[in-house]
Amino acid sequence: MNHQPVEGFSKLSKQRKIDWLISEYLSNDRSYEQILQQYWNNDSNLQKMHDEFSENTISNFYMPYGIAPNFLIDGKLLALPMAVEESSVVAAASKAAKFWIDKGGFKTTIINTEKLGHTHFIFKIEAHKLLHFFNFKLKKKLLEATEDITKNMRNRGGGILDIKLIDKTSELEDYFQLKASFDTVDSMGANFINSCLEQFGKTLKEEVAKEESFSKEEKDSLQIVMNILSNYTPDCIVRAEVSCKIEDLKDDSGISNEEFAWKFKRAVTIAEIEPYRATTHNKGIMNGVDAVVIATGNDFRATEACAHAYAARNGKYSSLTHCTTDNGIFRFWIDLPISVGVVGGLTNLHPLVKFSLALLGKPSAQELMSILAVSGLAQNFGALRSLVTTGIQKGHMKMHLFNILNQFGATEEEKQHFVTYFKDKTVSHHEVISELEKLRNK
Ligand code: MEV
Repeated sequence: MNHQPVEGFSKLSKQRKIDWLISEYLSNDRSYEQILQQYWNNDSNLQKMHDEFSENTISNFYMPYGIAPNFLIDGKLLALPMAVEESSVVAAASKAAKFWIDKGGFKTTIINTEKLGHTHFIFKIEAHKLLHFFNFKLKKKLLEATEDITKNMRNRGGGILDIKLIDKTSELEDYFQLKASFDTVDSMGANFINSCLEQFGKTLKEEVAKEESFSKEEKDSLQIVMNILSNYTPDCIVRAEVSCKIEDLKDDSGISNEEFAWKFKRAVTIAEIEPYRATTHNKGIMNGVDAVVIATGNDFRATEACAHAYAARNGKYSSLTHCTTDNGIFRFWIDLPISVGVVGGLTNLHPLVKFSLALLGKPSAQELMSILAVSGLAQNFGALRSLVTTGIQKGHMKMHLFNILNQFGATEEEKQHFVTYFKDKTVSHHEVISELEKLRNK
C-alpha cells in the first residue's frame, strides 16, 4: 500500500494523531489503540510532563528500572539505579559489586573535568596575521562579549577556561577553529557551551569587519560555518579501579585463582589489540554506564559517542579497560571520558530521575562520573568473569528464560517448573520450547 505524506501532523491532537496512524498504517485495526493507551499515565500532570519532554508523543515507552546494591565506591556503600531492557545487566552488576565489596571496593579518581566546543570557520587569510589578531584583540573581545552568559556559571565556580585559535588549513583549505574549554561544574553544560560559542561566532564576525589590518577581500572571505560543543571530551575523564591479591581472587567456577587471573588478563589484552573484540567488550561496559546514565536523566548518545571516540584515539579502536597481574596483585581499571550533569535538563523534572539522584545521595557531577565509571567497570568484570569461566550463555539465558516463557504465555506454575528444570543446565531457546510442548501435552 502506498502511503500519503501528512501535513501539520504536529498540530493534530494526540487522538487525531493516533487515528491517522491507525487508518494510514495499521489497516484500521483499533486494537492498536489499546496498546498505546495502556501505557498512558492516569495522572494527567505527569502524562503532560512526559508528553512535553519530546514532540508528537502518542504514548510512553517503559524501560525496566532496577537496582544493583552493594557497590562500595570510595568507601561509600551505594545502590545503583539502572534503567535497562537487557536481562542480566543488573544481575551482573550486583554480582560484581558483591565480589569486590570485601576486597576494598571500587576506587575512583577524577583526572580532569574540562569540556570543549568550537567555532568552525573559513577564512582566506595568512595564519600568522590571524594569530596576531586573535592574541592581541579577539580573545579579549570574545571573553567580554560572553560576560553576561558566563556570569552565573562563574559564580558557581565554572566558566570559560581558555580559548585557542587552531589552524586546520593543512587538513582543509582556509579552515580555522576557535577551540574553547569550559568548566560547567554540576551541569552537563550543553546549553551554556553552545550559547557561548554562538556569541563567539557573532563577535568574530563583528571584530573581523572592524579590523583595519585586514583587506576587504580578506574580510569578505570569512564564513562562520558552525558553533557547537564537542561530545568528545577526552579531558573530562575519570578512572575507576579495583585491585586485590591474586590469591584472594576466589571464583566459584572451579578454576584456580592464578588461572582465572591469567585468563582474565588475556581477555583484556585481546580487547586491547583486536577491534572486533574491543567493540563487544566496550559495548558490555556501556551496558553498565548507559543504564545509570539513563536512570539519572543524562544523555546516553553523548556518553556513547565520547567513549567510542576515546577508544579509537590512537588510530585503532581498543579496550576502555586494562588489567595487570604484576607482583601477585590483580589490578583492573577503566579510564572513562564522560560529561554528565546533576542539575538542569531532566534532572529537576523527571520524578524517577530525582529519585535516582536522591538514592545516590545527591551526588555532584564529579561523583556521578565516578559512579558511572564504576558501573562500566563492574559490568565488564562480570562479563569477562563469565566469558573466561562458564561462558556467557549460562547466566544470560537464565535471565532470558522469563522472556521466552512470556512470549509463549507461560503460567506462573509453568514458570516455576522451568526454574527447577534449568537449575543445573544451560537454558536454550530450543529446549524451552520442546519442554513446554511436553508439559502442555501431558
Ligand atoms: C552483552 O550485552 C555484552 C557482552 O557481550 C559483553 C562482552 O562480551 O564483554 C556480554
